[in-house]
Amino acid sequence: MTGVTPDATMANRVLVVVGTRPEAIKMAPVIRALRASEVPVDTRLALTGQHSDLVDEVLRIFQLKADWDLGIMKEGQSLTEIAVRCLEGLDELLRQWRPELILVQGDTASVFFAALAGFFQGVPRAHVEAGLRSGTLEQPFPEEGFRRLTGVLADLHFAPTVDAGKNLLREGVADDRIQITGNPVVDALLDVAGRGWAPETPTLKRLLEDDAPPFLLLTFHRRESFGRPAERVFEAIRQLVETEEGLEVVFPVHPNPRIVEPAHRILAGHSRIHLMAPLGYVDFVSALAGARGVLTDSGGIQEEAPTFGTPVLVLREVTERPEGIRAGVAKLVGTDPRRIVEEGRDLLRRTSKDRERTRQTNPYGDGRAGIRIADGVVRYLSEQREGG
Ligand code: UD1
Ligand code: UDP
Repeated sequence: MTGVTPDATMANRVLVVVGTRPEAIKMAPVIRALRASEVPVDTRLALTGQHSDLVDEVLRIFQLKADWDLGIMKEGQSLTEIAVRCLEGLDELLRQWRPELILVQGDTASVFFAALAGFFQGVPRAHVEAGLRSGTLEQPFPEEGFRRLTGVLADLHFAPTVDAGKNLLREGVADDRIQITGNPVVDALLDVAGRGWAPETPTLKRLLEDDAPPFLLLTFHRRESFGRPAERVFEAIRQLVETEEGLEVVFPVHPNPRIVEPAHRILAGHSRIHLMAPLGYVDFVSALAGARGVLTDSGGIQEEAPTFGTPVLVLREVTERPEGIRAGVAKLVGTDPRRIVEEGRDLLRRTSKDRERTRQTNPYGDGRAGIRIADGVVRYLSEQREGG
């Protein structure tokens, strides 16, 4: 473990734990708001290192520095390896610096094992993006399990939407422990979109010019889709490109070897399919804004797309994000190739007028979630102090 040894006697000590790229993106606005809070909060950032390369890029964009990095990542890591390495590293960290609150975000392995490490050591836990539920424990796997388990251990729940808050109430969480805040992913997105940066990736630069051909954006990485479902999705994409003249596909391939291999085997070598390394957040956001549609199994991308009205085909059987579907921006299409090709064609026939109809207030947030979460944290810490 590398890192500094901060002063454990200061008040309002909050440890933010981040493991993967989406956690870094979503926690950046929260850390910023905590550090800007009128009441001083000693906010420290620990990386589990579950993702190394993908997180570094996000930290650079949001000008964040980690106070600790447990550096746990291994190629093709198993859930057990992540569990053991997270728990051991965080256990030592929590003994070194005793925070008054641990703040985690979302549903990854790092999130649950950080909450568990806090529970073992009697450090209160707050959960950002609390209350999302697909209703099916294995889909997405293991995320639905991790988010439910983290909910059980959390003392404070920052739910992004009213629906998410209702899920928690149904599970018996006390009303005064839930705060509806919006999702800080919208804060991060608006921040980056407002900077007006041009994309660096040459293919994207070309595709974002006014007279460029239409393109679809593809991302795919979920564990429950490894093997045949992933192959079926990639075969459908290839068929769509081969039958739709001029259509191009941009596919930033997740570095997981279980995705890299079939993606290259099935999709490489076609001049209109662009397999590339994961895009930097700025480039990704401009691709999302400029694409005719996005095909994805990602959670975060479902939350970002409504800001631009970019239609989403969700390559999963269930989603914990019903708001985008209700708003007409997202459609659940699963991994059946026939359905993907049909829906992909349908999406390409949509006009810019159709798109304007779905471009709307983002149901996942208004860009002020970070501030609300920071206020909630400060309130909780002062209540704890008065109570104790
Ligand atoms: C993880 C989360 C998933 C989240 C996703 C966000 C778990 C179990 N899964 O999935 O919920 O949606 O992150 O992207 O917590 N790799 C690299 N460099 C990186 C990151 C990953 O090479 O910066 C490779 C490594 O070989 C690693 C593999 O990808 O072993 C898988 O990473 P892992 O974090 O286990 O799973 P993800 O599919 O990224
Ligand atoms: N993203 C990115 N570059 C990429 C792909 C995604 O910056 O090449 C961003 C995207 O904008 C979103 C987040 O990463 O904010 C989503 O991450 P991912 O799909 O890996 O995880 P999930 O949200 O499904 O947990």
